[in-house]
Amino acid sequence: MQALQIAIDGPASSGKSTVAKLLAKKHGYTYLDTGAMYRAATYLALQEGLDLEDGAGIVAALDAAPISFGRNTGGEQLVYVGSIDITDAIRQPDVTQAVSTVAALPAVREKLVQQQQALAQAGEIVMDGRDIGTTVLPQAQVKIFLVASVDERAERRYKENLSRGIETDLEALKAEIAERDYKDSHRQVSPLKPAADATHFDTTGVSIDGVLAFIESEIEKIN
Ligand code: DC
Repeated sequence: MQALQIAIDGPASSGKSTVAKLLAKKHGYTYLDTGAMYRAATYLALQEGLDLEDGAGIVAALDAAPISFGRNTGGEQLVYVGSIDITDAIRQPDVTQAVSTVAALPAVREKLVQQQQALAQAGEIVMDGRDIGTTVLPQAQVKIFLVASVDERAERRYKENLSRGIETDLEALKAEIAERDYKDSHRQVSPLKPAADATHFDTTGVSIDGVLAFIESEIEKIN
């Protein structure tokens, strides 16, 4: 039987990465945060002063400083471009504000989707993003599409930012999330949208454990 592939898609701060990480840890699956890869490409573009619409230039920068993942002693995932640890840098507001522009570039998506598909060959995997069920792993046995209200997602991001020591304004976060939703859902290539065979789940007011239990019940259905 093909190794289990779990695709978790949804808009910003819908709870995808928290639940995907927990699921992977609990069941020993590999976890891939594809949003971190688009953030890494954006970081490189900003760092090197590239035009954010210059797909070929950004791909060349990614060839020169490839994205890779590691772990710190506490088991947390680290993100690198070349040998530089950018785990914290990719969560900063400058990257967050620019990432939807870079993620809309076909050349960048082609390159990162190839890398994501290659990483999925390693075995059982849980991947979170916007186009996992539609484009990256259309054959995934489990496809979940998480949603939540803009207010709740902004509150989550606000708390997450505070815990990382990043100053933010809640109202500005709401506007930024709504704008990113719009850009991610309206781009030409692989827009944010549920796969036809994805199971939808609204995480508004639901605890992380509740979301985890729901996804585990979906996995049980296929066993
Ligand atoms: O999940 P996140 O907020 O870290 O994602 C950052 C951005 O990357 C998001 O605005 C859209 C983009 N993205 C994407 O286009 N495709 C993916 N598979 C994952 C993220």
